[in-house]
Amino acid sequence: MKIAVLSDVHGNCPALRKVLEDAEKRGVDEFIIAGDYCLSGAWPDECIKTLMEIPDKVMIRGNEESYLENLIGKDQSAWTDGQMQISYYCFRNIDPGRLDFILSLPHTTEFERNGVKIHLAHSSVSFIGDHEFTKFGPAKISKKYIGTDNTSEVLRKDIHEMLDADPGFAEKADGLERGIYVFGHSHVQWSYKSKNVLLVNPGSCGLPLDAIKDSVPYSIITISAKGETSVEEIRLPFPMLPYVEELKKTAQYAEANVWTKVIIKELLTSREHLYYFLNFAEKYAEDIGDDRRPFSIETWEGAYKAWEEQMIVDTDREKIYLSESCDVFYVKEKNIVLVHWKKYCELDQYRKPLECALKVIKEHPGCNYTADTRDGFEDNPLDTKWVAEYFMPKAKEYGCEIIYFIIDKNNSLKEELEGQEKDSSALLKFRYVYGLDEI
Ligand SMILES: [Fe+2]
Ligand SMILES: [Fe+2]
Repeated sequence: MKIAVLSDVHGNCPALRKVLEDAEKRGVDEFIIAGDYCLSGAWPDECIKTLMEIPDKVMIRGNEESYLENLIGKDQSAWTDGQMQISYYCFRNIDPGRLDFILSLPHTTEFERNGVKIHLAHSSVSFIGDHEFTKFGPAKISKKYIGTDNTSEVLRKDIHEMLDADPGFAEKADGLERGIYVFGHSHVQWSYKSKNVLLVNPGSCGLPLDAIKDSVPYSIITISAKGETSVEEIRLPFPMLPYVEELKKTAQYAEANVWTKVIIKELLTSREHLYYFLNFAEKYAEDIGDDRRPFSIETWEGAYKAWEEQMIVDTDREKIYLSESCDVFYVKEKNIVLVHWKKYCELDQYRKPLECALKVIKEHPGCNYTADTRDGFEDNPLDTKWVAEYFMPKAKEYGCEIIYFIIDKNNSLKEELEGQEKDSSALLKFRYVYGLDEI
């Protein structure tokens, strides 16, 4: 028999549907679903409804469900914390009957299939202690694969090497009762088979953090009539950018803006960011002398603004060109060349940095162009012509598809920017944003 295993859907209904369709096509007999149904994607209710409709399934609770349980019976007029906005959003947007359903699920369970005992818990800590999180938890993964996009093959090989080099792990795994152990929580897909046990973490179907971009994972366990077991790790293509665009249109983006922006970073990079942001916010609150927890809206938003600034400046910008009128950076995390105009420029002052930007676009496949126009821009019709006839076609030739303009709230350069768009919109897509975090 074939059992599809998935976990950590986190409100990402499009990804959940994709996984369920694929599993159906492969003819699975039943599903195991290992918790964390909400918080992060904007469709928690649809996710729970979809999962409830699966006829043959075993489900347990994750840790995220507790945040919602803690809000039951509380006075909603007192719900003013910034940090809790995502929990408030989920609580208000999940049908009470469906919330009852996920809260009625057990934290752990055990059952038998073809004579093999299957143990289910949300976190591997229940079975193997901290061997997963200390070696290849999402925070470790985000550091290990910095600047490179991971593949399932590399991840599998690296994790097995780490497990082999960890004698405490083998001892722990061999000490377990014979059977299959299923868990999620880390958002990293992996599995391990020994004579006695099969350990399966299907990764996160809705918010993968194993540095493998634009895909969502789940796993299929096969148990033969004689009780022989095997696992197949599946990774389905799932372009994150269109999903993120949809996420930005939701009420969650407005109501839990900081949380959703951090999650968007995680989705686009397939790497841990929330953990780092929460640590940063703690330090930020201490520095401003705010001991209120959960964080107030002001502290939460202030921390995000400061975090975004320091993260871009310290870790993700590679300086390409610096002058008194313009700086050019390559922003690795977003794969964009960022041209920051510091004053109005013309001719060489304007064209030199753009030549540098073209080089960056050429060197990085899929790299898009971003102009921060809030402090300056071009100031000469000859340059406008040069941009339309030389810069834009070259950018396109080198693989650029989108031109982002970071504008001020008054859009004081509206006419100039729309002029450039008119000249080149047949070649490239134009987007207007208020800050780098929207890209
Ligand atoms: Fe999770
Ligand atoms: Fe979790």
